[in-house]
Amino acid sequence: MHDDSPAMIKSFTNLLMGRRARMVNKSEETALSLLNKIYDHVNAELVSKNDRVKLNMDEDNFIYGEIVPASFVRILERASPQPGEVFYDLGSGSGKALLTAALHYDFSEVIGIELLPGLCQLANNLVFQANEALASSHQAYADIYLRRLSSIKIVADNFHHQDISSADIVFINATCFSYGTWEKMIDSLESIKNGSRVIVTSKKIKRDQFLLLDEGLDLMGWGMNSVNIYKKVRQVLIC
Ligand SMILES: C[S@@+](CC[C@H](N)C(=O)[O-])C[C@H]1O[C@@H](n2cnc3c(N)ncnc32)[C@H](O)[C@@H]1O
Repeated sequence: MHDDSPAMIKSFTNLLMGRRARMVNKSEETALSLLNKIYDHVNAELVSKNDRVKLNMDEDNFIYGEIVPASFVRILERASPQPGEVFYDLGSGSGKALLTAALHYDFSEVIGIELLPGLCQLANNLVFQANEALASSHQAYADIYLRRLSSIKIVADNFHHQDISSADIVFINATCFSYGTWEKMIDSLESIKNGSRVIVTSKKIKRDQFLLLDEGLDLMGWGMNSVNIYKKVRQVLIC
């Protein structure tokens, strides 16, 4: 099937740009191989499933799926992260997006909010393992990576109950979130600063304060998926 829709063309461009950048960037290769190493044999889907059975939570909101690190680096790039900014992942699962963001960009804080306790524990263990692997390595980038890993914080809570107003970039892997959950999340996104960016899979934000910066198709753990990036802008009030 021949598909030359703008979204499909953009997704190929994203993949090609990703490949080129990966070839020229040695530190990115190092970070990605560390991520591959620590996530090898991790079954976050099973941890999520066990938690849901134990806590009797069978809503679609908790269906598990993850980013793909190399693809997520390219997605983040399109949101133009600046040194010292604050990154949030709402529903952070096993922490793959948190570790990818922290290792590749110079955020001052990388905060994940996750409700399922088994996933929070898993994410904290994996951050610990990444620290151990780096501390015992002699790589040129070890010191930088160790500093960046110390910016990660995982909050075991419902994301509807947390203040996210300090965010500069918010990531929401929202593909399985219900309409009600998504509407409530957009309400809380209204608290973020003007200029902040929101990266969201599958869903759209249809409010005047959110300007669509970029839309494309990117690789996720389950296949190609739409990704939309918004910028929070000052609301124009017409009197
Ligand atoms: C699709 S997974 C995304 C995992 C991770 N962000 C990634 O992309 O790799 C969505 C996560 O949101 C969590 N979640 C769902 N509803 C939540 C809520 N109200 N508060 C906190 N976490 C929630 C789920 O348990 C799940 O781990």
